[in-house]
Amino acid sequence: MLPENTFENKTALITGGGTGLGRSMAAYLASLGANIIITSRRQEVLDKTATAIRDAKKAQVLPIAGDVRHMEDVERVVMQGISEFGQIDILINNAAGNFISPTERLSHRAFESIIGIVLQGTINYTLACGNHWIANEIKGVALNIVTSYAWTGTGYTVPSACAKAGVLALTRSLATEWGKKYGIRSVAVAPGPFPTKGAWDRLFPASVRKAIDPAGRNPMGRVGDHEELAHLVGYLVSDYARYVNGEVVTIDGGEWLQGAGMFNVFDQVPNEMWDMVEQEVRAAKERQKNKA
Ligand code: HXC
Ligand code: NAP
Repeated sequence: MLPENTFENKTALITGGGTGLGRSMAAYLASLGANIIITSRRQEVLDKTATAIRDAKKAQVLPIAGDVRHMEDVERVVMQGISEFGQIDILINNAAGNFISPTERLSHRAFESIIGIVLQGTINYTLACGNHWIANEIKGVALNIVTSYAWTGTGYTVPSACAKAGVLALTRSLATEWGKKYGIRSVAVAPGPFPTKGAWDRLFPASVRKAIDPAGRNPMGRVGDHEELAHLVGYLVSDYARYVNGEVVTIDGGEWLQGAGMFNVFDQVPNEMWDMVEQEVRAAKERQKNKA
């Protein structure tokens, strides 16, 4: 979708960039000329991804291990990235922790772990890159990955819902504060279900996968394709989107509206029943008229 040189001389730092959606976004930005820094806890996973992207895209990829929850790791990753590439232009806060569970089964440490990765981790990288941008007058862009339950809330992944809601608030808050003072953009995307090993193992384990089919309840009748997300993210972090600030773009096939619309459940009524339903409704109206 975007010209081949869209990200020439630009550097993107992607947290959680060794696997899943982070890896797909890293590969896409690399194919459009970006230098890439990927970070997560497991060095061997990052190394494999870096080699694969370098080989396929002929791009520069720097894999650095670190925990998003630890500010000393975050500062080290950012400093190493700057010393390798000169500066960082794009931050994608993608690292996450999540698993399905009734809330009453969770310890406070389970909440702490997920909120630490998703919310505090996003804050840590935003501060580290933000200070680099402000000190060097770089009009950087931070893109955060949330999901639609950041604004609807949801049962069974409550720590993640709390954390993503915080990330959405951060996105919108900095869009104005840092947008006005420093020209730094802050945007978010809200993906629906996109198959990744990390998410599927923890959210749709085999024992429930058949009963809870994320494709079946989606208006588009399918899950997302990584390329579709990468194109959207590529646009939002590029200069083509330089007037997009504070926005969260949903990419879920209409899933959240399907759940929100009160009468969407009527898709369970088979087509052949609608004549009968209509007659019932019209007859009720006639009865009312005759009574009056
Ligand atoms: C209940 C659990 C649990 C489970 C862990 N805990 N798994 N409690 N049910 N299934 C508890 C632990 O017992 C511990 O509490 C606390 O949570 C922290 O667990 P640790 O294993 O010590 O944490 P940590 O090593 O930091 O691992 C974090 C993790 C893990 C989130 C638990 O799953 C992870 O590393 N995830 C990273 C990748 C990931 O989650 N990807 C999916 C993103 S998908 P106690 O009290 O015992 O000490 C996503 C999709 C959103 O976000 C939208 C989809 C549509
Ligand atoms: P994933 O492959 O499990 O990605 C999560 C990444 O975060 C992993 O690479 C993991 O690597 C890293 N990570 C976890 N804890 C970390 C920590 N403490 N420090 C540094 N890195 C850490 O899952 P995914 O599906 O691609 O998810 C990517 C993003 O998309 C997440 O923000 C998720 O909430 C969002 N999302 C996904 C979906 C979906 O359907 N897949 C839908 C909506 C939103 P290590 O374990 O090596 O650290």
